[in-house]
Amino acid sequence: MKRARLVAFPGDGIGPEVMEEGFRIISLLKESGLIELEVQTFPVGGASLDRFGVPLTQEALDAALKADAVLLGAIGGPKWDKVEFALRPETALLELRKSLEVFCNLRPVKVFAGLESLSPVKEGRILGVDLLLVRELTSGLYFGAPKGIFTDPETNEPYGINTLVYRKHEVERLAKLGFELALARRGKVTNVDKANVLESSRFWRGVVEEVHASFRGVALDHLLVDAAAMRIILSPSQFDVLITTNMFGDILTDEAACIVGSIGLLPSASLGERLNTLGERSGFYEPIHGSAPDIAGKGLANPSAMILSVAMMLEMSLGEASLAKKLAGSVELVLKEGRRTKDLASDNEAYLKTSEFGENVEHAFRKALG
Ligand code: IPM
Ligand code: MN
Repeated sequence: MKRARLVAFPGDGIGPEVMEEGFRIISLLKESGLIELEVQTFPVGGASLDRFGVPLTQEALDAALKADAVLLGAIGGPKWDKVEFALRPETALLELRKSLEVFCNLRPVKVFAGLESLSPVKEGRILGVDLLLVRELTSGLYFGAPKGIFTDPETNEPYGINTLVYRKHEVERLAKLGFELALARRGKVTNVDKANVLESSRFWRGVVEEVHASFRGVALDHLLVDAAAMRIILSPSQFDVLITTNMFGDILTDEAACIVGSIGLLPSASLGERLNTLGERSGFYEPIHGSAPDIAGKGLANPSAMILSVAMMLEMSLGEASLAKKLAGSVELVLKEGRRTKDLASDNEAYLKTSEFGENVEHAFRKALG
């Protein structure tokens, strides 16, 4: 049986509940003799702060660096709002992304059959939406120096600063991956920047065009980020692959995610160039949704995004594209048959608890495996 090593970070809020449903699938894979995933679990974010006084321990980081893939639930919550900035739960996520060198964050947005009417966007507009947002994840405004809160020695006035900087290799490697992904899809890339105002964007756009010269089979167009924000709502089905910076990607992925009706549905994969012991890309997989502390521990969370993140992991880090397809298909089937978690149910409609939905997916997946 194929074996791989996994590090799991359930994290905060609804993280642990949705992670349990990911584990359910991992157990089934082993029980079916398909692939054995040896899982090491560590607290992260607020959970780690409470236990160890830091949001990410060295031991957890070292284990993540050695793993074939990493799974994360969610991080943060109001409980840690007063924690000093450098120790905030979110810093664990940034440190993990940076240390694992997963510079490319893939956030696929697809409308699920049977859920079209849940979209805040008119049904006619979201038909056939199947786009992939490719967000740069380890540079840009999130990481550039100088950063911090200082006082101007001349005027004595305090100020806050972050720096938006992209180096050539950072844009090149992201654009290359974006074009490669587009080749395996509908062959279209939309680059999103702010090249009419920002030098950093003008530079970024130039590098994207240079990389494009080696990908003549892919159609490339450019969109300013404000126009892109509008287009994602007005005509989301026009997009195939979108590539953009860390900050713009953070904003646009939340926007794009909500057009499918619930942010609880969408997974993400973060990849770099590091290979794992299976010779695949070692990756970092997490739902797009946050820790939703208001509903944590009540069985109200939708585990779809987590289970679909496991599917992305099977495909991208474990070389199991066909299993991944069956697993994603099982989630789609359960949703199509009208089985819903609270976020998808109308006011008085009965709904499934997190674990019940997970059981339904497990059952469908078992059947798909034959
Ligand atoms: C996301 C989140 C993170 C980000 C936060 C929690 C640091 O919003 O994954 O999109 O800004 O990248
Ligand atoms: Mn975000």
